[in-house]
Amino acid sequence: MILIKNVFVNGKRQDILIEGNKIKKIGEVKKEDYGDVEIIDGEKKIAIPGLINTHTHIPMTLFRGVADDLPLMEWLNNYIWPMEAKLNEEIVYWGTLLGCVEMIKSGTTTFNDMYFFLEGIAKAVDESGMRAVLAYGMIDLFDEEKREKELKNAEKYINYIIDLNNSRIKPALGPHAPYTCSKELLIEVNNLAKKYNVPIHIHMNETLDEIKMVKDKTGMEPFIYLNSFGFFDGVSVIAAHCVHLTDEEIKIMKEKNINVSHNPISNLKLASGIAPIPKLLAEGINITLGTDGCGSNNNLNLFEEIKVSAILHKGVNLNPTIVKAEEAFNFATKNGANALNIKAGELKEGYLADIVLINLDKPYLYPKENITSHLVYAFNGCVDDVIIDGKIVMRDGEILTIDEEKVYEKAEEMYEILRG
Ligand code: NI
Repeated sequence: MILIKNVFVNGKRQDILIEGNKIKKIGEVKKEDYGDVEIIDGEKKIAIPGLINTHTHIPMTLFRGVADDLPLMEWLNNYIWPMEAKLNEEIVYWGTLLGCVEMIKSGTTTFNDMYFFLEGIAKAVDESGMRAVLAYGMIDLFDEEKREKELKNAEKYINYIIDLNNSRIKPALGPHAPYTCSKELLIEVNNLAKKYNVPIHIHMNETLDEIKMVKDKTGMEPFIYLNSFGFFDGVSVIAAHCVHLTDEEIKIMKEKNINVSHNPISNLKLASGIAPIPKLLAEGINITLGTDGCGSNNNLNLFEEIKVSAILHKGVNLNPTIVKAEEAFNFATKNGANALNIKAGELKEGYLADIVLINLDKPYLYPKENITSHLVYAFNGCVDDVIIDGKIVMRDGEILTIDEEKVYEKAEEMYEILRG
């Protein structure tokens, strides 16, 4: 058992008792009432739910800074895809560990990923102590042979992750996007999602160019096209980006309970546009936050995403009252947990013990009265302690599960291979 004593949680000073992987009690807890208890002094700290990043390509940490300031298609075709062709399981493993170090240090406890070489990713996630939903990224480029291969891989990896029997790691299906995946593949993805009861993680409506590609091919906007063959029926979908949307598409998103992964920094950096988040919120659509990969962000610090989502929509709509601080904070916690169907994102009895502690003795967190505001508008993401699934993963800034120095050394080594 772990007892966090006298910590600022849910608006007041209380104790948090953790038993197994869950929060057993929040309130006044006497150590003597329980046997073997590890105490964490919460006196100077605030406890918040671990953040949930709903759109990542974690191994792309190794692509950080390689190709900035380029259009999306040029960025993908000339830099990212050629480097990805050199990846192997070992490179992906170290890239994932680097990402895990970065996420843990910035308060993220769960991420929803789409990539390749899932054995390497899963191994790193397992060792790091993080929680993750992992999807194999499928692209068939409308080729039948590729389609068969991709579907086989996707199903193989679902079974691989199920067989790991690790409650922190769950499988998903990751068709890349409607402009890179055939209708036949997407129909089969829907079938597989129902067969294995796993969510679908897909890029939707990121750029005007890609929407034009879908429209030229099908005569329909992406959400309308996918809906025309039942892609959203009977499944849970996390749609990354959703930048350019027609009213008819928003209607479908609402009807089909689509979860949106809003990636404002990636969308700004690649000049894709700005997602109509206030409009989606008004429709009651679940908004979550993602960083996207480090090629287009260039970090995994979800606190930056919280701040940008809170200020960006005010600026473009000339309205300072929209996307309030608490709402933006919920995007990264509660709403993310809802999208991934995990009992986390809030600090409540019976919920998963995914808890982040922040030492309040930081200049940008004073005066201490309006902490939620500080976490959204003033904080840089530098957290102190991280507990995931009831285990202490970081204590006073030191990660206990990963050899950080070794990860940095290996990251450089792997980068040399990728550069060629
Ligand atoms: Ni992406």
